[in-house]
Amino acid sequence: FYEVHEIVVPHLGHVPIAKGDFHRLPKKVQKFIAYYCDLLTPRGLYICDGTVKEADEVVHKLLERGTLEPLEKLDNCFICRTDPADVARVESKTWISTKQKHDTEPDCKEGVNTIMAHWRSPEEAKKETSERFPGCMAGRMMYVIPFSMGPIGSPLAKVGVQLTDSNYVLLCMRVMARVSEKVWDALGDNDFVKCVHSMGCPRPWRKKVVNHWPCNPEKILIAHFPEERKVKSYGSGYGGNSLLGKKCFALRIASVIARDEGWMAEHMLIMGLTDPQGREHYLAAAFPSACGKTNLAMIKPGLPGWKVLCVGDDIAWMKFDETGQLFGINPEAGFFGVAPGTNWKTNPNAMHSFQANTVFTNIAKTEDGGYYWEGLEDELPKDTKITTWRGEPFKIGDPIKAAHPNSRFCCPAAQCPIIHPKWEDPKGVPIDALIFGGRRPEGVPLVYESFDWNHGVMVGAQLKSETTAAAEFKGKNIMHDPMAMRPFMGYNFGHYLQHWLNLNKAPNKVPKIFHVNWFRVDKEGKFLWPGFGENVRVLDWICKRVRGEDVAFKSPIGYMPKKGTINLEGLGPIDWDALFDLPREYWQQDCKETQKFLEDQLGKDLPKEILEECKKQTERISKM
Ligand code: GDP
Ligand code: PGA
Ligand code: MN
Ligand code: MN
Repeated sequence: FYEVHEIVVPHLGHVPIAKGDFHRLPKKVQKFIAYYCDLLTPRGLYICDGTVKEADEVVHKLLERGTLEPLEKLDNCFICRTDPADVARVESKTWISTKQKHDTEPDCKEGVNTIMAHWRSPEEAKKETSERFPGCMAGRMMYVIPFSMGPIGSPLAKVGVQLTDSNYVLLCMRVMARVSEKVWDALGDNDFVKCVHSMGCPRPWRKKVVNHWPCNPEKILIAHFPEERKVKSYGSGYGGNSLLGKKCFALRIASVIARDEGWMAEHMLIMGLTDPQGREHYLAAAFPSACGKTNLAMIKPGLPGWKVLCVGDDIAWMKFDETGQLFGINPEAGFFGVAPGTNWKTNPNAMHSFQANTVFTNIAKTEDGGYYWEGLEDELPKDTKITTWRGEPFKIGDPIKAAHPNSRFCCPAAQCPIIHPKWEDPKGVPIDALIFGGRRPEGVPLVYESFDWNHGVMVGAQLKSETTAAAEFKGKNIMHDPMAMRPFMGYNFGHYLQHWLNLNKAPNKVPKIFHVNWFRVDKEGKFLWPGFGENVRVLDWICKRVRGEDVAFKSPIGYMPKKGTINLEGLGPIDWDALFDLPREYWQQDCKETQKFLEDQLGKDLPKEILEECKKQTERISKM
């Protein structure tokens, strides 16, 4: 299929170049590629240029092989069904390797295992990677992907180069990051983040390949080397494990760079919210994976006269400027969104975004070439013939799941009808408030505001949520997920909290910090709050607080809305008291448990300011 020219490039040994001009690449990139050609022994080298023609070629190849199927009803959209053993991030095999253990792992209390890091010594990481990578691309093409996280050339942007033997990964990387030849020029002689990815199935491959998705689940390893600005990922093609610009670079590696350079890399959406008076506020919000970032980032406001524009839906890079104003950019170029639950009612803007040029993974397909997943029951005829993500016949109402709960759409952000005109502004947008939240069925009110920065950092550190299908955990348990960053921390979590605390210094004007919970349930287990577009009502209250309006009273956990200060007009019955109830027992228990968690997990690395905030909160609650 590829035209292979037998050019013997000195640095490359005898690896033929299928596409691109190796000698045109920056010298450091040449060295990087040559080293890995030698080690991984691919059958050819394909240097990507990011053009549409290139994407078409790759799609053609994937269709031919059967990895992709077209969704005929849509324009240039495809469905990919993975090996069912490769459907989510694998946190237990996601490692950070630094020379000093303490740079990665906090000083846990004796006998306690950290959940905030998976550290491995460089020796051990080297041993494990050298058992996997040598020869791992035998018989496969090596794709070289130049990409920029952030608008190419923006002062906040960073360049990466990913090597991969998966053209599915190439296809998705093109959507999620800015893949272009212009990246080489922007890079010049500078350093870049080195990303190496392999599905781990060198040829001849004797194990069974399921769904035309060669992978190696037993050997999965996602190893980060922050000191070398390097990521090595093996065995999995699933998004967070394989699209290395996203979680690996833009969160784990970037959080380390951000620590060193005095900025923040966070698991946050960014949105611009304009009220009926025309005032615009920018909000950044951190929720754990599959807890509502993508939905909130592009809500269709349930209140008349309000406008929401989306800047980003998953990751925010933020930096205080010389005047002390916090600015944020979305380093990504696409959405990698949870499909189930998305429909024309809950998230019409997402629906509009993925009608063209989209790769869907592990969703179900309708007979007429459309998409299907849980949540679309009411938007399709009941007798629609459907094929599940596993390839089984399915009808609406059947007791199995048609789509995998972590099935995803991967589409260009530019296709979002409410993408913010400033979403690619090199300077970013001014952030007015930070919001934390999680899935908290019990005890936690719809919204509250922290008393000040230090208290807000503690509120973030306290973040907990029900586990979801985004990672390998089974069942629903409430789990700690500080700042929604537990799976994405690139360094010692105690140092990370200290970094946040340190940002509160002149001339920085730190934003207010809020906590929200859309997921509180009643005795029957039904959500107390309608959520989705109606969440704008809570954002309205948050904006009032940003402007300093007197709509709050002091509670033991923070400022809470005075009754009636959240606009509930036209909503039908809402149980305000149940939504805002603060059960004393629950909070006593919760405070105790959180403090113990932080003391256990952080030991001497727990900043004294945070411990102080925990103690003050416990005391306020004991006086309730
Ligand atoms: P992300 O992974 O954090 O970006 O989360 P998503 O926005 O993709 O949402 C994950 C799941 O939560 C989807 O199934 C959504 O339908 C659901 N969800 C999102 N927002 C809300 C909400 O306000 N209320 C309820 N009940 N569910 C929501
Ligand atoms: P999200 O991102 O679930 O936060 O949207 C993908 C992931 O965490 O794997
Ligand atoms: Mn995420
Ligand atoms: Mn998302």
